[in-house]
Amino acid sequence: MSLRVAVLVSGEGTNLQAILDKVHGREGIEVVGVASSRAGARGLERARAAGVETAVFAAADHPDREARDLALADWLDERGAELVVLAGFMEILTGEFIRRFSGRIVNVHPSLLPAFPGVRSIERAVDHGVRVTGVTVHFVDEGVDTGPIILQRAVPLSYPARIEEIEDRIHAVEHELLPQAVRLIAQGRVRIDPVNHRRVLIEGEGGDGDG
Ligand code: GAR
Repeated sequence: MSLRVAVLVSGEGTNLQAILDKVHGREGIEVVGVASSRAGARGLERARAAGVETAVFAAADHPDREARDLALADWLDERGAELVVLAGFMEILTGEFIRRFSGRIVNVHPSLLPAFPGVRSIERAVDHGVRVTGVTVHFVDEGVDTGPIILQRAVPLSYPARIEEIEDRIHAVEHELLPQAVRLIAQGRVRIDPVNHRRVLIEGEGGDGDG
């Protein structure tokens, strides 16, 4: 069992840190590169501190998004990345990139999808007054946060609430769920349901087979 993982970040990189701390160098999982869309991303420092190779692929440094994503994809292939993890990567990848790594890109999102896709998901859920929000880890397709769901966990809310406290609780769940998903994929236990391509089957999870 082995899995070469690349992580894409744009900012703080706490989810990257969770992957480095919990699965990197264990069970055959190796983080082989961290790429950022921003030169100043704190995630790059975290990668360097763990001895992981880094690179910056800022849109402004390339003629267009297609060229940027092509350079990024080539860099990932050069490192032999088998799984691409979007960990707070705040840019939309081109369809060409997504097709090239089809079924091999996962994203962590701070809501229970399909509720609150896109940006500012935590604030929008709280503004809406939802009583349950949460975290989703999903495969990336060509839509915005629309791909097949691998793992979800609920986070209950009550009001009044401090947004910072809610963010902390959601991030803590992300830091468990994302490494767990990477571990399950490395174990070869995750596949798309051949009958319903929206669904993900996780080996060993049970299920009575009537769905
Ligand atoms: C995380 O909360 C992640 O779910 C979110 O950005 C944050 C990145 O934090 N991603 C999205 O909203 C993607 N649509 P981090 O840089 O500390 O890991």
